[in-house]
Amino acid sequence: MIAFTHRDRRITLEGGQTFNLPRELGFRDTPSEDLLDLVREIESGRPWREAVQARYAAAKPWLHRIITSPHRTAFFADVLPPCTGPALEIGAGWGQTARALAETRPVVALEPVAERLAFITAAARQDGVATKLTGIGADYFDVRFETPFALICVIGVLEWVGAFQSQTDPQQRQREFLAKIRRELAPGGSLILGIENRLGLKYLLGCPDDHLGVPHIGNLPAPLARQRWEQTGQGPLQAFTYSQPELETMLRAAGFTQIDFFGAFPDYKLPEKIIPFGENGTALNAWLAAHEVPPEHNGYDGSPLDAVFQRALQERYRALAASGVAHHFAPSFFVRAG
Ligand SMILES: C[S@@+](CC[C@H](N)C(=O)[O-])C[C@H]1O[C@@H](n2cnc3c(N)ncnc32)[C@H](O)[C@@H]1O
Repeated sequence: MIAFTHRDRRITLEGGQTFNLPRELGFRDTPSEDLLDLVREIESGRPWREAVQARYAAAKPWLHRIITSPHRTAFFADVLPPCTGPALEIGAGWGQTARALAETRPVVALEPVAERLAFITAAARQDGVATKLTGIGADYFDVRFETPFALICVIGVLEWVGAFQSQTDPQQRQREFLAKIRRELAPGGSLILGIENRLGLKYLLGCPDDHLGVPHIGNLPAPLARQRWEQTGQGPLQAFTYSQPELETMLRAAGFTQIDFFGAFPDYKLPEKIIPFGENGTALNAWLAAHEVPPEHNGYDGSPLDAVFQRALQERYRALAASGVAHHFAPSFFVRAG
């Protein structure tokens, strides 16, 4: 059983039950009606992978990979701690992580966008994990959990958590998000975070930012990035990523003391190689000095980077590794923090 308070209301849910109080504003990578239509198709019996393939494989190949690629859960082997206590996934999206976790432990999938949560639970029923998965359709900031979690997964969410709201400065919201997670972890529990590196080499060399779709803004220090984004006339900047030292400082300020970084190549979304940093990045530098990195892509639309760009990345990783600093320029991080 999961117990929590939503605003002033105390709620308890058994595995397989769902609480839904979604908000209108929110992160969407496909129109609501399209996704609701897909959910109806799945609920009428069509296998979800087949339905997703028919709808997106040709029309939206990047989205199709994001939803279905087995690489989405590659971090389980390298980064997850060995525990099977209750897990929470915040911003569960299409449920790639939550459903896979539910094969081995009870999971709460928290996702504020209603149709995304409907997809997660419909696909969980087909995968035979519905009784292990509790759905909560709400903003994480509106929920106070009584049940402590052994594991909290936040994959591709910290960068977005300040967006789609206007009460709090987005970066302050990100700091509050990490502090709230720290409070809701059981003693000895772990946060697993997946996020792009603000200083990822590909971004410094001019690859568009995964959130903004343009180069040379998201990789700037936040005050300057805000200024440059405002100058484009698209309103205030809402999505922020961080370098390794910045992210570590934020995690320590939130109360985390044991923090392990991993470099994810080509990124945390579809990782093919996940390499632990080791002490001061030595393990990742040693790996980069001896290996070719997997081909990287534009993380905004999934398009491959051309061979010349790829070679430029490879040569620079090597040179930076020889100086012992290449870990600062990995494209994405996984972080395990407790
Ligand atoms: C880029 S998507 C990542 C989805 C999924 N974790 C994945 O790896 O594909 C970001 C998700 O964070 C969710 N999100 C953003 N702000 C949130 C909040 N305050 N509380 C809970 N979820 C939130 C969005 O609804 C969205 O599904």
